[in-house]
Amino acid sequence: MSKVSTSKLGTAVITGASSGIGKVYADRLATRGYDLLLVARRADRLQAIAHDLQSLHSVHVEYLVADLASPTGLSETIRKITAEPSITLLVNNAGTVFFGPLETTSQTTLTTMVALNVTALTALTMAVLTTFQKRNSGMIINIGSVGGFNGLSILAVYGGTKAYVLNFTQALQKQLSGTGIRVQLVTPAATATEIWDTSGFPISNVDPATVMSTEDCVDASLQGLDAGELITAPALEDEGVLRSFEAASEALFNATQTGQAASRYGLTR
Ligand SMILES: NC(=O)c1ccc[n+]([C@@H]2O[C@H](COP(=O)([O-])OP(=O)(O)OC[C@H]3O[C@@H](n4cnc5c(N)ncnc54)[C@H](OP(=O)(O)O)[C@@H]3O)[C@@H](O)[C@H]2O)c1
Repeated sequence: MSKVSTSKLGTAVITGASSGIGKVYADRLATRGYDLLLVARRADRLQAIAHDLQSLHSVHVEYLVADLASPTGLSETIRKITAEPSITLLVNNAGTVFFGPLETTSQTTLTTMVALNVTALTALTMAVLTTFQKRNSGMIINIGSVGGFNGLSILAVYGGTKAYVLNFTQALQKQLSGTGIRVQLVTPAATATEIWDTSGFPISNVDPATVMSTEDCVDASLQGLDAGELITAPALEDEGVLRSFEAASEALFNATQTGQAASRYGLTR
């Protein structure tokens, strides 16, 4: 960044800030007083958002035009993040989705989904973690999806990438427990954004009653962050379902630590 952050809260990096959920995060974090580094591919959008936020709030807003699914764009972003000690918050939000049976997913779509939803999210987390660990403080918000909780038939790859985000974030939360570094997983359900336009499944196919606004999604997620939630599912009314899921996941893993084939397989060795 050309200018050192002037905010007491430091700088929040938001990937995928040119539209949808990321754009609302940019607005809300600027309102809270963070300086911002916005990352996405569409320069015109980023420029307009940076200009608007800087005029509305007394914060410094920079943007970086980068394709995070490409090794070059990712490396450039990592270089920028690593060189900036004022970064205190990373919102790993950029993501892409394709709905459809696996055989209709092109090689390019597959590669991009994994590169953006998995590789970039992981590499950017590693990039900020080094700085955060040196000063024992910082926050990471990973945007997963309810699609990561369940293997939906038309979301084999996307659901898989978001299941990765769930497992990756939970592992990191355990590793960093007791430190000053916080990691939150946000799992939106259907949210009204542009992501649906290129997904192969227009949002008009979805019952409007099940679609949340981007503003509600982000505002609920930030409330969850303030409340210290590790996993925030903005659309989930009964938190008990999430607690049962976490408990069942832990119990399932523990129950497999036997070293023996289960008796139902009838092995007699
Ligand atoms: N909307 C939903 O129903 C829903 C539900 C669950 C989870 N989510 C998750 O929410 C996150 C945000 O998505 P959204 O719904 O807000 O969709 P969106 O409006 O399409 O936003 C996606 C953002 O990611 C950026 N992006 C896409 N490809 C990129 C690339 N290769 N390099 C850098 N930036 C890239 C886009 O900007 P550029 O095109 O300018 O690069 C855009 O800013 C995603 O991780 C998505 O999986 C969404």
